[in-house]
Amino acid sequence: MTNGAVAARRDRVLEVVDLQKRYGAGTLAIERISLDVCRGEFVSIVGPSGAGKTTLLKTICGLLAPTSGRVLLDDKLVTAPPPEMVLVFQDYARSLFPWLTVTANVAFPLRKKRLGAGEKASLVLEAIDAVGLTAFAGHYPWQLSGGMQQRVAIARAVAFRPEILLLDEPFASVDALTRADLEDLTLRLRAEFGITMLLVTHDIDEAVYLSDRVFVLSPPPSVIVREIAVPLSQPREQERTRSDAAFLALRNEIHRLIGQHPERTPAP
Ligand SMILES: Nc1ncnc2c1ncn2[C@@H]1O[C@H](COP(=O)(O)OP(=O)(O)OP(=O)(O)O)[C@@H](O)[C@H]1O
Ligand SMILES: [Mg+2]
Repeated sequence: MTNGAVAARRDRVLEVVDLQKRYGAGTLAIERISLDVCRGEFVSIVGPSGAGKTTLLKTICGLLAPTSGRVLLDDKLVTAPPPEMVLVFQDYARSLFPWLTVTANVAFPLRKKRLGAGEKASLVLEAIDAVGLTAFAGHYPWQLSGGMQQRVAIARAVAFRPEILLLDEPFASVDALTRADLEDLTLRLRAEFGITMLLVTHDIDEAVYLSDRVFVLSPPPSVIVREIAVPLSQPREQERTRSDAAFLALRNEIHRLIGQHPERTPAP
C-alpha cells in the first residue's frame, strides 16, 4: 500500500459496504450501496423521494439492522446506535420536547455523558450560542419559529460533540431564506467544531452548495449511480457559489443523472 493509501485509510471515519435493506419480507428499499466518508468531510446523498435515504441513514447509525452488508465506524462494526453518531431528523416539531426549555432540550442527551455538571452546562451554553439562540434559552419550542426550532435540534446535536452528524432533510420544512441561513450555520459549525457531516436531501443545489462529495441515488430499490467530487472553493457563499459556472455544471449533471438514472445492475 502506498503512503497516500495508508493516509486515506486512516482518515476514513465511516464505511458502508454492500449494504442492502429490505423491510421484513416486503419492500426492498436499498438494493446495494457502498460509500465512505472521511474525517471532517461534508458528504451529501441526493435521491428522489422514496429512494431509501432515510432508511440508509437509520441503518448507518444502527437504528435499523442491514439485511446484508455492513457499516463500519472507525473500522468497528456498527450493531447499535454508537455515541459518536447523532441523527438530526427532518421533523423538528417531533424531535424536541415541548415541555422543556431550549436549554433543557439541548442538555437532554448529555445526561448519558460522564461529565461534570459545569462541563455539561458550558457545552450547552456554547451550542446555544453557536446557533444564535442565547436570548431564547429559556423559551419553550412552541414559542419559537420553525427555523429556530430546527436550530435547537442542531444545537442539541452539536452539544453532544458527535464525531459524525447525520442530517435527514433537516431544512425541508422551513422557508427559503431560513433554509439558506441554516445551510450556512451548518457549514460554520462544521468549521468551528470539526464535525464530519453526512446529509441526505432531495435538493440537488443544496447538496452541491454544502458538500465536498455527493452520492447520487437511483429510484428505489436504490443503488449509487454516481459519486461526484465538488471542487468549489471554501468558504462557500450563497450568491457567489451558486452563480459559479462550476456549481451550475455540477447541479446540471446531477439533475440529468436523477432524471435519467442509467442502466442498473441488479444485485445477485
Ligand atoms: N418502516 C418501514 N416499513 C416498511 N417499509 C418502509 C418503512 N420505512 C420505509 N419503507 C419503505 O422503504 C422505501 C424507502 O423509504 P425511505 O423513507 O427510506 O425513503 P426516502 O428516500 O427517505 O423518502 P423521502 O424522500 O420521501 O423522505 C419506501 O418504499 C418506503 O415505503
Ligand atoms: Mg426520508
